[in-house]
Amino acid sequence: MSAAPAARELFASSFGREPDGIWSAPGRVNLIGEHTDYNEGFVLPFAIPHRTYAAVALRTDNRIRVASSFARLTVECALEDLAHLFPVEHQGADRDVPEWSAYVLGVAWALGASTGSAGEAGSATRFRGVDIAIASDVPVGAGLSSSAAIEGAVASALNDLWELGLDPVTLAQVGRRAENEAVGAPTGIMDQMASMLGQEDAATFIDCRSLETRSVPTGFRDAGLEVLVIDTQVTHAHSTGGYRERRESCERGAQLLGIRSLRDASVADLPRAAEIMDDVTLRRVRHIVTENQRVLDTVAAVTEQGPRAIGELLVASHASMRDDFEISTPELDAAVETALANGAIGARMTGGGFGGSAIALVAHASVDAVTDAVQQAFAAAGFTAPHLFTVSPSDGPRRDV
Ligand code: GLA
Repeated sequence: MSAAPAARELFASSFGREPDGIWSAPGRVNLIGEHTDYNEGFVLPFAIPHRTYAAVALRTDNRIRVASSFARLTVECALEDLAHLFPVEHQGADRDVPEWSAYVLGVAWALGASTGSAGEAGSATRFRGVDIAIASDVPVGAGLSSSAAIEGAVASALNDLWELGLDPVTLAQVGRRAENEAVGAPTGIMDQMASMLGQEDAATFIDCRSLETRSVPTGFRDAGLEVLVIDTQVTHAHSTGGYRERRESCERGAQLLGIRSLRDASVADLPRAAEIMDDVTLRRVRHIVTENQRVLDTVAAVTEQGPRAIGELLVASHASMRDDFEISTPELDAAVETALANGAIGARMTGGGFGGSAIALVAHASVDAVTDAVQQAFAAAGFTAPHLFTVSPSDGPRRDV
């Protein structure tokens, strides 16, 4: 069953009534610009056709109840309790709510905060209770921002039902706050912006310092190109481990350079960086600095020469993540190498790394050959069978019903 009717059915079976409406938001792939977002740099993601659906209805009291196809239990609390649940660091390890529900409850909490009601959704009269049922066709843990899709669908629904009138960039900030402070994952803003600002046939260039954006037509379709996603089925989580460590290395690098963030460094600063920092920090810094430049070069290349001109930049981005930032995996490297060896114009891992997906830019006529070759290479290496599918740049959130 597609996720839209699934959300409606889950709503009816969980709450015994019909929703007021169904809202949805997309996942994303990132064309280029990895780990640059929390360094206040540049990214170029696009929204994908896979979406998360939130069936939602207002209640007459102040309870919030959440059901999801990810879990059997429904989670329930009063709106005013959200201020006791979040931010999550106040709770230590004993989180009171399951992680999946923190994305949803966190958005309700952050919406209250962002509209000036002193951080408590329950303290303003327009915040009424809601029942929410979530279903998704964005693969979870695949590096395709299933979490930003949940946040976007719920933020859009509550923005409408609570008549908040917030714009998409503010809603993206709400989603990020939920992710950072309710879930506890120290991520940047790329995923939420990519989901919120998705457009057909265009990627979104985002300056993650100013949050200024520009729509960049990709021209994939006219050029006869497809973006093939290779989901390695190796799942990852950004609330722990490597992601946080990379972030800390970047902050250390910026501090050593005496700048606010690595956004303020350029390729010309790398020789000086090499003199004042250890090799690991230097390589983390070099990835960010060169990746920012590659994003700018990709925007210029696709705009001036068309999408076939971006292949080498994608390949260079992957090499930088593999060798300098060290966030790739054997599966992601095999996906990229096999795609390139079988005619892909460019390929790279996408998202936070340590698992998840790669993307390959492939001529329409080569999609089957590349798919077969990747499947065979994974089987030969003894990896779990990957999941391959094509995506095209798609629209952002909407009210479906
Ligand atoms: C994850 C995070 C983003 C971004 C990417 C890496 O998707 O959620 O904020 O940092 O990793 O580019």
